[in-house]
Amino acid sequence: GLPERVTIYEVGPRDGLQNEKTIVPVADKAAFIARLAAAGLRTVEATSFVHPKWVPQLADAEELLAVMERAEGVRYPVLVPNERGLDRALRAGVTHIAVFASATESFARRNLNRTVAESLAMFAPVVTRAKENGLWVRAYVSMCFGDPWEGEVPIEQVVSVAVRLMELGCDELSLGDTIGVGTPGHVTALIGALGEAGIGAQRLAVHFHDTYGQALANTLAALRCGVTTVDSSAGGIGGCPYAESATGNLATEDLVWMLHGLGIQTGVDLPALAATSRWMATRLGRPSPSRVVQALPVE
Ligand code: HMG
Ligand code: MG
Repeated sequence: GLPERVTIYEVGPRDGLQNEKTIVPVADKAAFIARLAAAGLRTVEATSFVHPKWVPQLADAEELLAVMERAEGVRYPVLVPNERGLDRALRAGVTHIAVFASATESFARRNLNRTVAESLAMFAPVVTRAKENGLWVRAYVSMCFGDPWEGEVPIEQVVSVAVRLMELGCDELSLGDTIGVGTPGHVTALIGALGEAGIGAQRLAVHFHDTYGQALANTLAALRCGVTTVDSSAGGIGGCPYAESATGNLATEDLVWMLHGLGIQTGVDLPALAATSRWMATRLGRPSPSRVVQALPVE
């Protein structure tokens, strides 16, 4: 069966804006985040406390956190790669963080300048200290289905990294299809294998990029496996600067259209969300790639 309600984990301000050529001014980022919360999104990933040279688009994380409004009942997670990032996040008053691992050595090296083992060792004290400070911790695993340098990624390789991340004490695990090559059968097989390894669907989220147009079909497959948290980006903006073949995430509007059509609640006001994505598209100087944003009448 399908869930009655799905938690949408909005990644537009982070995964979206990190890969746009335009560097959006901090006031527009704050307005984007406020409008996403006003449209009913209850989790809005705000930015990253990574090295500013690695992701210049998000180098203003401190400034953003200082000016951002926090709406009641809304979580604003941030990416944190290491203890330096955690220190910065704690000083900024953050309560929800995400570490980000890779299922493959090639992407761990390119994205974190580490082997998979070294990156897990880098995250261990981050998760321990975050939990001591009462923070909620998500762990991403990138390249769960395919990798641009290594090809198809074996399921047992993903399970191995996932198990080690959850042993560190993370609260949630998000399965990243960074380059959007996954298909529904593969999704079902991976979630099944994670369940057998002791990581149940209630602790999972899915994170599909839509490069090959499979993101919605993959999401439906994940929901049928019991997953109830889905990542998406408003207007379908985004990608990954360290994986060139990645395009934007599943668009939040496309996800909401499917979920509401299935009678699944999200709490999202679709016209308000699409208006926000159109507004951001004018700031970015390119139309939203979301089919639903394109199809909905402008109000
Ligand atoms: P490194 O070069 O190995 O860093 O980068 P280091 O540990 O050797 O430190 C070098 C210098 O950087 C030091 O300064 C540190 O203090 C400083 P120095 O002592 O030389 O003056 N430094 C920092 N400064 C500010 N903030 C920090 C920080 N850390 C070190 N946090 C590092 C290693 C992890 C820092 C780097 O590789 C990095 O920042 N990577 C981030 C890459 C990234 O953000 N990628 C995109 C997000 S992942 C993604 O999009 C996928 C996802 O969406 C899921 C999916 O789709 O699959 C999540
Ligand atoms: Mg991503």
